[in-house]
Amino acid sequence: MNIKYEIISEENIEDCRDACNELMSYQKSKAYIKPELFDNMNFDTRMIPSVKSAIHNYIVVVKVEDKIVGYVYSNISPKETYSNAFATFFDLSSVSKGNVGCLSQFYIKEGYRKYGIGSTLFKMSMEWLQQFDDVEDYFIYVSNGNDDALEFYKRKGFSVSHDILDGFITVLRNSKQSNQNSN
Ligand SMILES: CC(C)(COP(=O)(O)OP(=O)(O)OC[C@H]1O[C@@H](n2cnc3c(N)ncnc32)[C@H](O)[C@@H]1OP(=O)(O)O)[C@@H](O)C(=O)NCCC(=O)NCCS
Repeated sequence: MNIKYEIISEENIEDCRDACNELMSYQKSKAYIKPELFDNMNFDTRMIPSVKSAIHNYIVVVKVEDKIVGYVYSNISPKETYSNAFATFFDLSSVSKGNVGCLSQFYIKEGYRKYGIGSTLFKMSMEWLQQFDDVEDYFIYVSNGNDDALEFYKRKGFSVSHDILDGFITVLRNSKQSNQNSN
């Protein structure tokens, strides 16, 4: 397979539209707690606002024979971003610095999984997140029923912190000191 990884600028996030919408459908298909919450989640309601509100964004698309087959989106945001009308994602007092890192969206199309592409994108994201001296805490939010993703992140060094929204989302976290060994 001719696999290419391309870091794209915020102006080109439209490239992720289809994959982002597929990710939302995938998550809905797996969910057994409040799957209807995904009905309003799509590229326009999730990715665009997130990219606009973050301080720094990092988007990598993966292409096979010049066709986009997946992407990962990570960002750095003020911790207050994660306490809003929808949910309080974590106890803000458990984060000493002002900003947090988040691996926010991650999707590889069916047929391209289990070739190591996800591991490469994950590693790129962690290396990018760890560059920021003012960030020590990293979060990943996994929706219920997506056990494959949960296990993937655990094997990469993240730990389950707690559930929110009656189990709709599991919060995973890691800190700067302990994720040096992620691969
Ligand atoms: C989660 C996801 C991004 C992982 O991407 P991926 O490309 O499948 O990941 P990798 O191939 O690097 O690794 C997946 C597993 O396949 C294994 N693998 C990698 N190459 C392999 C190969 N050639 N043959 C067999 N297994 C292989 C890896 O060891 C890994 O196993 P592990 O989880 O036990 O470590 C992808 O499965 C996906 O997009 N899933 C659907 C959407 C989703 O759940 N997104 C996350 C939302 S929070």
